[in-house]
Amino acid sequence: MAERAAALETLDEEVRGCTRCDLHRTANRGVPGEGPVDARVMLVGEAPGFNEDKYGRPFVGAAGRFLDELLGEAGLQRGDVYITNVVKHRPPNNRDPLPNELDACLPYLWRQIEIINPRLIVTLGRFSLGTFFPGSMISKVHGELRQKDDRYYYAMYHPAAALHQERLRQTLLADAQKLRAELPRILGENQPPAVEAPPHDGDTPPEQLSLL
Ligand code: URA
Repeated sequence: MAERAAALETLDEEVRGCTRCDLHRTANRGVPGEGPVDARVMLVGEAPGFNEDKYGRPFVGAAGRFLDELLGEAGLQRGDVYITNVVKHRPPNNRDPLPNELDACLPYLWRQIEIINPRLIVTLGRFSLGTFFPGSMISKVHGELRQKDDRYYYAMYHPAAALHQERLRQTLLADAQKLRAELPRILGENQPPAVEAPPHDGDTPPEQLSLL
């Protein structure tokens, strides 16, 4: 665990000092991502915006507040998940990331996934979806659980896209609720909790004891 935390810290420092593309010239700082090194759920957005660039943390603006609401609908909290972006420096005026910027930045994401090894990756928006499933259309696959290379993926619209579109907002909330129903299976939380069972009295079936 300490080794993984150290590897993630090293990666964070590299991102903060990264000059692999031109985005570092216009951005204030790199935004590596945040969350537990052993998080079982990873959220991947597009790129830092104004507030993320200011504070160095992912999803801390208006889209971030809606993301917190979505996490709540999914039965999760921010502290449970690792949150990052495909591109780690803010593109000027929040424009779409360019192909060379994506190419330069993706090795960081692959290393984050290797270190954290999440069971589930939730993609937020079309750039994130396209990173894992090139050619996939978000309007077709959002809210669907997929499995690839021994990991689960769940595509959602980008929370920022829903800020001014009520219909998209409802779609995102519904997809988050759908995810909530899938999570126990994905994360194996329906297995007996690891609490110490009282001594077996011989009358209670063991499967009931695990629920005591
Ligand atoms: N939008 C993103 O894609 N990522 C952030 O961190 C903030 C807004």
